[in-house]
Amino acid sequence: MKKFYVTTPIYYVNDVPHIGHAYTTVAADVMARYKRLHGYKTFFLTGTDEHGQKVEKAARAQSKTPKELADSVVVRFQELWNRLNISHDHFVRTTDDYHEKAVQELFKLIQEKGDIYLGEYEGWYCTPCETFWSEGQQLEGNLCPDCGRPTEKVKEPSYFFRLSKYQDALLEFYREHPDFVLPESRMNEIVSFVKMGLKDLSISRTTFKWGIPVPGDPDHVIYVWFDALFNYVSAAGYGWNHHRFETFWPADLHIIGKDILRFHAIYWPAFLMSAGLPLPRRVFAHGWWTIEGQKMSKSLRNVVDPHRLIEEYGTDALRYFLLREVPFGLDGDFSHRAMAHRINSDLANDLGNLLYRSLTMVLKYFKGEVPQPSGPGGELAQLAQAVIKDLDHLMDQQAFNRALERLWDLVKGTNKYIDSSAPWNLAREKRQAELATVIYNILEGCRIIALLISPFMPQKAQEMWDQLGVEGHIVEASMDQAAWGGLKPGTRVKKGKPLFPRLDEKAIVEKIERELASTQEPQEEEVTIDEFARMKLVVAQILQAEKVPRSRKLIKLLVDTGSDRRTVVAGIGEHYSPQDLVGKKVVIVANLKPAKLMGIQSRGMILAATWDRGMKVLEVPQNTPVGTQVR
Ligand code: MSP
Repeated sequence: MKKFYVTTPIYYVNDVPHIGHAYTTVAADVMARYKRLHGYKTFFLTGTDEHGQKVEKAARAQSKTPKELADSVVVRFQELWNRLNISHDHFVRTTDDYHEKAVQELFKLIQEKGDIYLGEYEGWYCTPCETFWSEGQQLEGNLCPDCGRPTEKVKEPSYFFRLSKYQDALLEFYREHPDFVLPESRMNEIVSFVKMGLKDLSISRTTFKWGIPVPGDPDHVIYVWFDALFNYVSAAGYGWNHHRFETFWPADLHIIGKDILRFHAIYWPAFLMSAGLPLPRRVFAHGWWTIEGQKMSKSLRNVVDPHRLIEEYGTDALRYFLLREVPFGLDGDFSHRAMAHRINSDLANDLGNLLYRSLTMVLKYFKGEVPQPSGPGGELAQLAQAVIKDLDHLMDQQAFNRALERLWDLVKGTNKYIDSSAPWNLAREKRQAELATVIYNILEGCRIIALLISPFMPQKAQEMWDQLGVEGHIVEASMDQAAWGGLKPGTRVKKGKPLFPRLDEKAIVEKIERELASTQEPQEEEVTIDEFARMKLVVAQILQAEKVPRSRKLIKLLVDTGSDRRTVVAGIGEHYSPQDLVGKKVVIVANLKPAKLMGIQSRGMILAATWDRGMKVLEVPQNTPVGTQVR
């Protein structure tokens, strides 16, 4: 029997579920349902990550024990997964007994193999990210290079995992499995990162208690990522359910957000190699959502609270929107305007209307009974077959938005078929046999569409089946039923409410705009135009660039400002190599007080856009003369 094992990340319990969590979980659910439809024995795992300093701190702030906090938050996740119709087969909590045991066993196994040793850790720790950083990896001012928040200096005895030993094996594994990480661009990032050299990884802490104790040395707790990643094998039965483990491991697909790719694509396979376990087949890193054009913040969260979205738009519309709106793997923006628009155009107009008009016709021309066709399905049947085939390929690449786009070719194609075969004319001209074939084909198109959308929108797919008079639960259906001609003539349809009522887009947008205006974060300090004008911004061209010795970040530049040539030292070395900079026309703050950086006098500053993990210097079109003032 074919099997499929898909996972979501396990979510930290220091926070309640939000749209980002819903996104990953819906995507994994769609994969699981799709594979079940295709006859795979499927294991779909989700759960919660409950150990670590972050959870300990959050619990303290709420005067709870970490376990009490976890118990209360877990319910919130489970409630949301219920409402989103998530069909997971197992929910793992890292405080579950079987998990803790498995992690300890695996720790011992890896230690016996010689891949864990006791050393001393000195470095910087970002609690929100649960990540250690070395001095050089941090941003200036001891900030976490991932989230930009302050890190804390720690020095303590620590167990280390010999990650460095696995560098070559990992690179070879990536070479042999180029699809291990998707999208492809992310695979490239991982390969470059590993090629830069891997350091051994600190995998225990002594400064707090909330974690799984290191076997034989209970002063240490196991680093939360070592603990968390092993959920994928513990929940699959490692050490307690041999049959399940043998059936399902290795995982076929870990769906995660791009921020936690390194853990999954580097540490995880290295741990598994060391433990002598087979490696997962794929890690897919999806992008991040911004909200109404802004980075997600506490106040913006309410605007896209998943419960609220479910109430306003319905579970299936939300599931559809999340996967249709943005190519899986890229970042996207979540706005109510886009959501309402998608619902109206794709769901109410294209899909809902198709079912509604089809049922209206069968009621009108055949008293609500599916007619006996007198000919084959023709072009529509061929289109359905082609779509099914393409879906397979697209779903295997987790290209959800393209899969839905392709599926909509069938929705639109069926609508077009209605228009071009004009059943109303056939009825008027009393061409009964042709009319019967056309109506049959339309209904059969709808039935197959219902089956194909069922992984994405299980409730609406079921409603479609019910209205078409098809018996049974669509979740139990299989792809054999997608063969053309499955709809039995004589079936009585049961026309019901429109699948998706039309939304008043304008009213929705106005409401959200009012809400956003009232939830704006406090205004930043304002400057007058005169204050701004004191700054002399000019276009300058970079003539020479070289790395500042012993600095990761600094690059020494010689620039032409139109009125002089001067040295500017810029902290852009982690994002640019010197040769890429020469010739660029950039904007500099020309009247900035000179400063000495690593002993070099810098006169001016280059403007650059920076975000959590990236930076781009602002470039000016090449035909702008140097010395031009920027106002
Ligand atoms: N506990 C770890 C995962 C351990 S897996 C062995 C963790 N948890 S988390 O709760 O912080 O994040 C879970 C997921 O939510 C991540 O995949 C992250 O990418 C995702 N998202 C958080 N905010 C998001 C958006 N704004 N948009 C999309 N996904 C986002 O990390």
